[in-house]
Amino acid sequence: MRKTIVAGNWKMNASKESVNKLVMGILSGMSDVSCEVVVCAPFPYLSQVEALITHSQVRLGAQNLNINTLGAFTGEVSAEMIKDFGAQYVVVGHSERRTLYGETNTIVAEKVKAALDSDLIPLFCVGETLEQREAGETENVIEAQINTVVDLVGIDAFLNIVVAYEPVWAIGTGVTASPEQAQAAHAFIRQRLANNNHDVAQQTPILYGGSMNAANAEELIACTDIDGGLIGGASLKPEDFLQICRVG
Ligand code: PGA
Repeated sequence: MRKTIVAGNWKMNASKESVNKLVMGILSGMSDVSCEVVVCAPFPYLSQVEALITHSQVRLGAQNLNINTLGAFTGEVSAEMIKDFGAQYVVVGHSERRTLYGETNTIVAEKVKAALDSDLIPLFCVGETLEQREAGETENVIEAQINTVVDLVGIDAFLNIVVAYEPVWAIGTGVTASPEQAQAAHAFIRQRLANNNHDVAQQTPILYGGSMNAANAEELIACTDIDGGLIGGASLKPEDFLQICRVG
């Protein structure tokens, strides 16, 4: 049985006050939540969230990491630093980082490896742009994104990786992939992994991300190969986020 995971990606939205309200709000509604719940906070707030979620079932994640372990890398943050604040997850290869900060498939694969080397679980994001989808390249793009990681860390490492399928055209746009579109992409990802190892593919959680919200989460998560969600906008509202968690 695969784990269902609902992870909030707060992106660059936080203040000490808003983080306090958001986490307290989530914690107050967790009693009827059975899936794994993760909140991915900006670096300066990891410590605050770590303290707030102590003894709760909420898990902590970061949103990025550097591939090096330590040294002269001004402004960067290592996997060990993230772990030092009790985080268990880290988002890797988000399309915003690929597009805005030039993260190539190779860099993303190195970041996945750096996370795994420090026992952090990468929330490894893949997905196509609208242009690529319209050109019929969706599967090729996703396959290339996955291949680079499989080639570097090996298929068995996917026992400790969570994949997130995030069509770029659905992120922050309010346009969600239909359950059919999402399921087709998830099934393709699982089959791609199964080509290397069927058992590993069956055990790897594949989350959907891209305008998932309280209203559409249920029909998406009900799909055979959708094992939860990576939530941006709706993860900033405790009630909406909790509603998605309850479906998970
Ligand atoms: P969204 O973002 O839910 O706001 O579309 C998802 C993501 O970028 O992870």
